[in-house]
Amino acid sequence: MTSRLRFVLIAGSISFLLTGCGDAFNAGTISYKDSEQFTKKQKDTPDLDGKPQLQEAVRKALADLFGPRPQEIKVPAGSGFPEGGRYLANYEKVGDGVQDIVYTEANSGKKVAVVGGYGLYRKYCLHCHGVQGAGDGPTAEFLYPLPRDYRRGVFKFTSTAPSNPKPTRADLKKTITHGLHGTSMPAFEALMSGSEIEQVIDYVIFLSMRGEVERNLISIAALVDKDDINGITADDIKESLDTVVNNWKATETLVVSPKARRTEPTRESVLRGRDIFLGKKFGTGQPVACTDCHGLHAKGDGSSFVERNIFDKVVFRRKSLDTAIEERYKELGDEHKSAQWQPGGHGGGHDSASSELPETFDAYKNRETTNWDKGSKDDWGNPLRAANLNLGVYKGGRRPIDLYWRIAKGINGAKMPAHGNLLPDDQIWDVVNFILALPYEPDLLKDAEQIKKSVTAAPAVTQR
Ligand code: HEC
Ligand code: HEC
Repeated sequence: MTSRLRFVLIAGSISFLLTGCGDAFNAGTISYKDSEQFTKKQKDTPDLDGKPQLQEAVRKALADLFGPRPQEIKVPAGSGFPEGGRYLANYEKVGDGVQDIVYTEANSGKKVAVVGGYGLYRKYCLHCHGVQGAGDGPTAEFLYPLPRDYRRGVFKFTSTAPSNPKPTRADLKKTITHGLHGTSMPAFEALMSGSEIEQVIDYVIFLSMRGEVERNLISIAALVDKDDINGITADDIKESLDTVVNNWKATETLVVSPKARRTEPTRESVLRGRDIFLGKKFGTGQPVACTDCHGLHAKGDGSSFVERNIFDKVVFRRKSLDTAIEERYKELGDEHKSAQWQPGGHGGGHDSASSELPETFDAYKNRETTNWDKGSKDDWGNPLRAANLNLGVYKGGRRPIDLYWRIAKGINGAKMPAHGNLLPDDQIWDVVNFILALPYEPDLLKDAEQIKKSVTAAPAVTQR
């Protein structure tokens, strides 16, 4: 106990030293890479290109706060980690030596030497999420969607609001325990104990804090003249850290709980949910635009996003956007032509229709390029599609409360907006009931076109 107290009380810089783990898999040195903002010039993104002194100042600040290498971790004072962050590593520095970090199991009182967040991360997560949590591990390039880049401090699946709040530990625990369905993010329930999942959560938060402080410092340094040796001050560093730490600490108080209990999933509720999905306004609710993104049949093909066909060509077949658009336009032309010629085919019977597509190539290209640039990217700049809601696969979990959170507060960084300010809770529950019913009853949206027309038509005026 005394040693733990001493440990927690060394304010300022509590150091852990983590030596390489024993097994071959973990052997070898790895080190933090600079953020791409050190050099990369991108419109609207601050960078430190051509400012070596300021680059060095940011590196130094990060090393002072978080440690110089992944194997040597410092925990910034007051960062709010359980027990001062001691479970981030497996050894702590004591005097000139190191000592095992031991965890006492709550119910059995058994003492276990911990692997530590870093060791677990290196074993299970690093090959996807990368050394500094940039989502750029060696496996990442083969995956869609890409592993999360933690450095923005933005996480998609949270129970919290408003505006890009941090996840709670419970949110992270759910993601790591059960994985994100329909993506390559695995479920770690069978591989890690409860205490190990807590250790790795500490490490994800640690990397996220480090990355966010790096981003903040780069933003400050980007405004400073390259020869200004006082470029970033101790105050700047403290402020950058405090903002990040305070956001993480606040998050546990930001959990959104529904004010109304879930409505029974009756036929009426499911149909009401369907009509809300298609844009109908009920009572105090406001009309919502789910179909703009998810499409009338909820297949994830709404008009705010680039066409599925083009998306697939770019993301999965690695074609350039221009090539994909040209090919698609040609395909549409061919389909259109053959429809003209097949009696009983799609366009059969429209004798007067020309074999030209109704839209010129330029107009088509313009629209799809805009959709791609504006709509079809997430906050990390990666390709994004709205979910197909007919499959019954939900990244953030399939419990009614998970879907409540997705709809009420949106998916951070991924264009799916919060609807808590548009729909009262009972109507959100109707939508949840509809979403959960849809995969089993695709016919719910069979007549979506007609229903949408009738539910969104202007209210009938009573004629005298
Ligand atoms: C095979 C690759 C892979 C491995 C291994 C992996 N992840 Fe992920 N992880 C992903 C992908 C892909 C996503 C993003 C999915 C998306 O955005 O839809 C993700 C997302 C996450 C998120 C973000 C959730 C959110 O709300 O935004 C966290 C946290 C996370 N992973 C933690 C971990 C941890 C901890 C480990 C190791 C114990 C791990 N991951 C291992 C692929 C992986
Ligand atoms: C501006 C576009 C947009 C609008 C409007 C929108 N969504 Fe989404 N929605 C998305 C995107 C994009 C995703 C996928 C995010 C991802 O995969 O990370 C998504 C995902 C979802 C998911 C899947 C959640 C999960 O855990 O995988 C559900 C359910 C959902 N939306 C329901 C709705 C409902 C209901 C509405 C209307 C009340 C709506 N969305 C409105 C863009 C939108």
